[in-house]
Amino acid sequence: MKKIVALIMGISLILLTACGGEDTPSNTSSGEELKELTIATDAAFAPFEFMDKGEVTGFDVDFATAVLKEAGYKANFDNVGWETMLQNIVNEKADLGVAGITITDERKETYDFSKPYFESTQLILVPEDSQISSVEDLKDKNVGVQISTTGAEAAQKIFGKNSDQIHQYDQVPLAIMAMQQNDVDAVIVDNAVAQEYLKNNPDAEIKIVKDKNAFESEYYGFMFPKGSDLVDEINQAMETVMENGTYDEIYKEWFGQKPDKF
Ligand code: ARG
Repeated sequence: MKKIVALIMGISLILLTACGGEDTPSNTSSGEELKELTIATDAAFAPFEFMDKGEVTGFDVDFATAVLKEAGYKANFDNVGWETMLQNIVNEKADLGVAGITITDERKETYDFSKPYFESTQLILVPEDSQISSVEDLKDKNVGVQISTTGAEAAQKIFGKNSDQIHQYDQVPLAIMAMQQNDVDAVIVDNAVAQEYLKNNPDAEIKIVKDKNAFESEYYGFMFPKGSDLVDEINQAMETVMENGTYDEIYKEWFGQKPDKF
């Protein structure tokens, strides 16, 4: 029964596209082709953005694509890596950045942000046999972080800004690999990314340590060049997508449950 319904829906979709599609793209009178916006990202941050069969995919990709579509734009993801992303937004080589980016006061001096769309916090990843059970236990240890992230900031708070106990990596998976090779004792990283890593690598012999007193809530937002005209219209579209059920649907797809309200 389900199959038949799906089949009918599929056929109607094909017919719809076949009939309606023709005059939309190249015909300026009935509607211009959607303007494309370049979204810089670092696709090594599953489940938010990661590479799958040569394509950037993930929660952020689906969400940002829906928001841009709602605002009348097409999303073009450019996987340039974390630090280049930050640069490309300053230089306006990208229209925006979407990469599980935490909204911080410091970043607000250089960038504009959308409304928040996801709550996060830092946590600690350690080898399964590690004795580390809190931030306090890290004090005489080495930790890995992704460079220029809020995880790196959290480490600086613990060890001091230029501490050589902080090992910085270009990507989160490199920091985790360094821990597996015993180069560092722990990794500080965003919670959902740590959980996804454990889910995808059940044999990695890694465990999660949470320290609620040490790490605050963070909120992800889209990052824009300062003064970008896009902020208001994207914010409006974001509000629509978050309220009309689209956000919940995408959330459920990637996290297997309804989002907590935040
Ligand atoms: N939320 C953290 C931050 O904004 C880490 C984000 C890292 N994202 C990524 N795609 N590597 O600093």
